[in-house]
Amino acid sequence: MKVLLLENIHPVAVEQLEARGFEVDLRAGSLAEDDLIAALDGVGLLGIRSNTHVTEKVLASANELQAIGCFCIGTNQVDLAAAAAKGVAVFNAPYSNTRSVVELVIAEIVSLARRLPEKTQRMHDGVWDKSARGSHEVRGRTLGIVGYGNIGTQLSNLAESMGMRVVFYDTADRPAHGNARRMRSLDELLAIADVVSLHIDGRPGNAGLFGAQQFAKMKPRSMFINASRGMVVDDVALRDHLLSGHIAGAALDVFPVEPKAQGDPFESVLRGLDNVILTPHVGGSTQEAQEEIGWFVSGKLTGFALEGGTALSVNLPTVAAPPLAAGHRIGFLHHNVPGVLAAVNALLAEEGDNVTGQHLSTRDELGYVVTDAAERLSAGALERLRTSEHCLWVRTWES
Ligand SMILES: NC(=O)c1ccc[n+]([C@@H]2O[C@H](COP(=O)([O-])OP(=O)(O)OC[C@H]3O[C@@H](n4cnc5c(N)ncnc54)[C@H](O)[C@@H]3O)[C@@H](O)[C@H]2O)c1
Repeated sequence: MKVLLLENIHPVAVEQLEARGFEVDLRAGSLAEDDLIAALDGVGLLGIRSNTHVTEKVLASANELQAIGCFCIGTNQVDLAAAAAKGVAVFNAPYSNTRSVVELVIAEIVSLARRLPEKTQRMHDGVWDKSARGSHEVRGRTLGIVGYGNIGTQLSNLAESMGMRVVFYDTADRPAHGNARRMRSLDELLAIADVVSLHIDGRPGNAGLFGAQQFAKMKPRSMFINASRGMVVDDVALRDHLLSGHIAGAALDVFPVEPKAQGDPFESVLRGLDNVILTPHVGGSTQEAQEEIGWFVSGKLTGFALEGGTALSVNLPTVAAPPLAAGHRIGFLHHNVPGVLAAVNALLAEEGDNVTGQHLSTRDELGYVVTDAAERLSAGALERLRTSEHCLWVRTWES
């Protein structure tokens, strides 16, 4: 099967795909719509990052395409609904850069507590200003984590290992790690945290979550960090509280409006303030994260193409198919209507085929059933499945 990888995907992806027998065409840049349509002729798997847009028109003409790997976190560059309607699986790497974000935040907590941004700036300006004024250890201070998911929980563990007290607030029920304490409300957290760090997701209700009222409720001389989503924070309100001295320092990695291209100018009301760290959305951008993303997503693509597994797909029903042991596997993607599973099993029974394992999952309008069988399904039975009313596709694999 042919694989097209665009946008400088990490070489580890090529290694994994080639080792499993795929023919890889690796290209540095992204492709515009018509060029992408031409390049996808005969391609079974496509790998992209965030600059390649896979539109409905692209999908409509990509007749051999089985899966798209987004070698990044976001997937809104792909028309997910059109891909699902065509039975094309889309995968991404939701967890591969978690550790990178956490390490940046740990560095920022220490940097802000020691007022490193202004100290280093003064040294570059040629001023020797040796003083402990406003500098603190982080040991024994309280970190308030808002959003206790993948990133929030890892941050909790690392912060505790530096001797910080950790409190957290999450709208979902999340178990506390280590000695961390759950807060019943955001206000309760804001009242006791020396550092507040946001790690919530980008659901629409979170827009503008953190504004003047929330900054006012933070402890005097506390610090604020946002490496989650730019739209959750009112930067003007943050600027006001930094200028008044109520907030002693802040680190921002994400912004309500971010420049589109490398080298574009960056505008923000937070530029030029003391003890403020501004970084260009690099929380998850490390060599280690890129390698992990390359390995993870190419693994998802090979797992789907060679064994039918859709675990963590962002648009198809998810089936974590076990490794294909000795035997035969049938993957059947269909419209999610009652009776399809019964019909598949009736057909297998008619064939006298012994089912050794079966997994079904549904998602919105689609259902996916993976059946392991002792015998290869006859050509006639396969044809009956392929031409059945609710079928999107049938694929078979054997070990
Ligand atoms: N800066 C970067 O480069 C970078 C890299 C990776 C992820 N991120 C961002 O970091 C954030 C966290 O990522 P994650 O993988 O930990 O996500 P996650 O989905 O695992 O965790 C998010 C948590 O926030 C909670 N939550 C949502 N809204 C909330 C609210 N209003 N109040 C309290 N809790 C709330 C959810 O219940 C969930 O537990 C996301 O917004 C993600 O986009 C940024």
